[in-house]
Amino acid sequence: MSRAVMYEKFAGPEVLEVREVPEPHAGAGEVRVRVAAAGLNPMDWLIASMPEVAERFGVTLPSGFGHDYAGVVDEVGAGATGFAVGDRVFGGAMNRGVADFVVVKASTQGHEALSRTPEGVSDEVAGTLAVAGSTAAAALAAIGLKSGDTVLIGGAAGGVGVFAVQLAKLAGARVIGTASESTFEFLRQLGAEPVAYGDGLAERVRALAPGGVSAATDLFGTETAEAALSLGVKPERISTIAAAGNAPGGVRETGGFDAEPGSLGRIARAIAAGDVTVPIAATFPIERVRDAVELQAARHVHGKVVVTL
Ligand SMILES: NC(=O)c1ccc[n+]([C@@H]2O[C@H](COP(=O)([O-])OP(=O)(O)OC[C@H]3O[C@@H](n4cnc5c(N)ncnc54)[C@H](OP(=O)(O)O)[C@@H]3O)[C@@H](O)[C@H]2O)c1
Repeated sequence: MSRAVMYEKFAGPEVLEVREVPEPHAGAGEVRVRVAAAGLNPMDWLIASMPEVAERFGVTLPSGFGHDYAGVVDEVGAGATGFAVGDRVFGGAMNRGVADFVVVKASTQGHEALSRTPEGVSDEVAGTLAVAGSTAAAALAAIGLKSGDTVLIGGAAGGVGVFAVQLAKLAGARVIGTASESTFEFLRQLGAEPVAYGDGLAERVRALAPGGVSAATDLFGTETAEAALSLGVKPERISTIAAAGNAPGGVRETGGFDAEPGSLGRIARAIAAGDVTVPIAATFPIERVRDAVELQAARHVHGKVVVTL
């Protein structure tokens, strides 16, 4: 037997249970990963609490929980190539990431692609990368971010924001990031100039960057996208990952599925090289998965929340 977080109805964290389930095994063309760490994302608890979101992701009840994971390959199915027992890997597995074992195709392509964990990168860090890393890369690619840009990033201290800020800095941009005031020092340490979100955002950004902002990405909703439009940023240089179909005129809606192949490998190598750090806000053992979700769902996490197994 092995452990997996499961739920049988759509509601808050109270429906999440750690269950003993039969050990899954790698079938033909698959590998099994012994999971050591599983990073959480808002989509995990949005799917678990909202049937309409679950439907969008093809999730039915009863369901496993979570997406991102990292660990070690411990079984290789017949005909599977490219991975061997003992390989350290990370990736995403739709609604089954928070479990002792994840079984996925032995493939480096597609939505459940496996990536190799570079030496020097812990499982806790690798287990945070799949959704947030690819989404940050896609959000910046959608606006053609380049050296010399001044970019406004909304929700810059969250799970996606910590990657977006550092990737934008690495690309040679000046980064202004929105947060609440108590988060300002955290953002400065990541290399961003903080600005408070809320009413008057555009004026505050204008005061910080009188020469103008050239690009923006909204990682929280539409406020940053609207502020950027009002500051004269061209709509095609503004993206949002969290507008749910309501992006203001011409602004690009994007997400992790749009990331260019190889984005996660590049981020993992940047972490191994010390060019990107992953702030882990908190780790919880699997037995405390409900506490982990409650912390995440309060929407004031700085960096990532991780469940360990
Ligand atoms: N489309 C996709 O593929 C995709 C992928 C990943 C995520 N998403 C969506 O993108 C959003 C961000 O994900 P995430 O993992 O970064 O979330 P997260 O970690 O929960 O974000 C937390 C951050 O949001 C900030 N925040 C809270 N209220 C805010 C406000 N009113 N305006 C601006 N920032 C605010 C907080 O800053 P303070 O603590 O300073 O308040 C905190 O640092 C979520 O809605 C998620 O569902 C979409």
